[in-house]
Amino acid sequence: MSIDGVTMKLSFRQSLLNRIKADVLAVCIHQDGRFFQQEINVLSHKLGARIPAAEAGDFKGKDGESAIVYLQKATAPRRLLLVGLGERKKLTIEKFRRVAATAAKRARSLKAKSLALALPRIDRQASDVIAAMAEGAFLSLYKFDKYITKKNDENAALSEITFYTERTSLLKTGEAAVRYAQTVSEATCLARDLANAPGNEIYPETLADAAWQSAERCGYSATVVDEREIKELGMGGVMGVSQGSAHPPRFIILEYGQPSKKTIVLVGKGVTFDTGGISIKPSANMAEMKMDMSGAAAVIGTFEAVARLKLPVHLVGLIPAVENMPSGSSIRPGDILRHYGGKTSEVDNTDAEGRLILADALAYAEKFKPAAVIDLATLTGACVVALGHHASGMMGNDEGLMKKLKAAGERTYERVWPLPMFDEYEKLIKSDVADVRNVGGRWAGAITGAWFLKKFIGNYKWVHLDIAGTAILEENSDYTPKGGSGVGVRLLTEFLRRWK
Ligand code: BES
Ligand code: MN
Ligand code: ZN
Repeated sequence: MSIDGVTMKLSFRQSLLNRIKADVLAVCIHQDGRFFQQEINVLSHKLGARIPAAEAGDFKGKDGESAIVYLQKATAPRRLLLVGLGERKKLTIEKFRRVAATAAKRARSLKAKSLALALPRIDRQASDVIAAMAEGAFLSLYKFDKYITKKNDENAALSEITFYTERTSLLKTGEAAVRYAQTVSEATCLARDLANAPGNEIYPETLADAAWQSAERCGYSATVVDEREIKELGMGGVMGVSQGSAHPPRFIILEYGQPSKKTIVLVGKGVTFDTGGISIKPSANMAEMKMDMSGAAAVIGTFEAVARLKLPVHLVGLIPAVENMPSGSSIRPGDILRHYGGKTSEVDNTDAEGRLILADALAYAEKFKPAAVIDLATLTGACVVALGHHASGMMGNDEGLMKKLKAAGERTYERVWPLPMFDEYEKLIKSDVADVRNVGGRWAGAITGAWFLKKFIGNYKWVHLDIAGTAILEENSDYTPKGGSGVGVRLLTEFLRRWK
């Protein structure tokens, strides 16, 4: 994977601090008085240099703080970058992602080609800390700039980040952690690239091509079902939503590993552009809807990571890919569709299209006799209203499965939060003319969306993740830029890593 058009190399090494060679050496420092002083003293001693920024009180080790110190000695790197870890008792794994992101971005802005990150003294969870720092650094440098013809400082881009420990005993753990982090981060950036790509680049056929290319590259299989076969299979939701578009639909089937009793099916919403159809959306922010295939991107990214890591699981991926357009051939409000498996739905609003295509995929998933099915979809604006951009909405029919996803969410900081699926919500999507109606009215939109999906699931454990708020970001943050976040890849890879 290349970032800024330059291949990023992450590695882990053992060295004494004063022997490190890099354009910038970053060191993490705690805020608390005694520890702060101690850490600064040790650093100063090891480098054989004074640290005026700390002496002057300009750098205090606060959370998010950073300072450059220019070193005079010929042996040490010329630039020392101090980054604040904040208070010791408030330290979390997520802080390490952010600190490393701060260091990486600061090094890039200094036009450094190489960055050395000294590991802080860690007593517990060394592997998690190292992986977190590697993820934070890598993900923070992502930019979607393939369409910008005049890039700034192409030749000066940061291309090498090395993590350093002084302890030889950490070498194996560290190397493995960095390799893991690089793999999941690259897969996350693939998901970001797919989401950020405009609708004139990524439409159902090209999304299928991208999945197929990833499969070839990483060692899993991709089967692309075309329009004629989709129709023959009876996938009326996929056919219906795509019928107003000049681009034909695709149904993408991914498979990794050997069939087993513990098969997991991942389903991703692949609406390559969502205009709303005849129930057309307002123009403001409609461009964001190029990212309405973020669920599909997360599934492809997860396959990429899982296959490259060779995780011992059997995975199936299902991606219904369509473009939702208004035209003379579009579905109308009031139309009734017959889905895979035979159930019908009344289309009251053509903008509730995600659930129409997911219904076919969820019904199709039954064929694999899965131990669990997880769908990811930018399904509802209501979920963004409920949870904002900091948690994906989680609904499902199995507490155990949801607990596992919740834990993976905490560990990766791709957090999920439960919304209830009380029976009372079910009647909101009752239809007078079909088995179910595709909208439930004004209230509890994320939940009625999930209830619609639930009508089409088979006899399996199921979790629905509404990633409308977490997949599409409005502003830059530590290691997530504005636009596609690639959410789901790290979450699911972490979940699958522990799946037995
Ligand atoms: N793709 C949208 C949901 C969405 C909105 C995702 C904002 C990300 C940001 C989905 O297809 C949609 O239009 N949902 C409707 C459903 C409604 C018509 C029941 C919505 O949320 O308004
Ligand atoms: Mn829509
Ligand atoms: Zn949509």
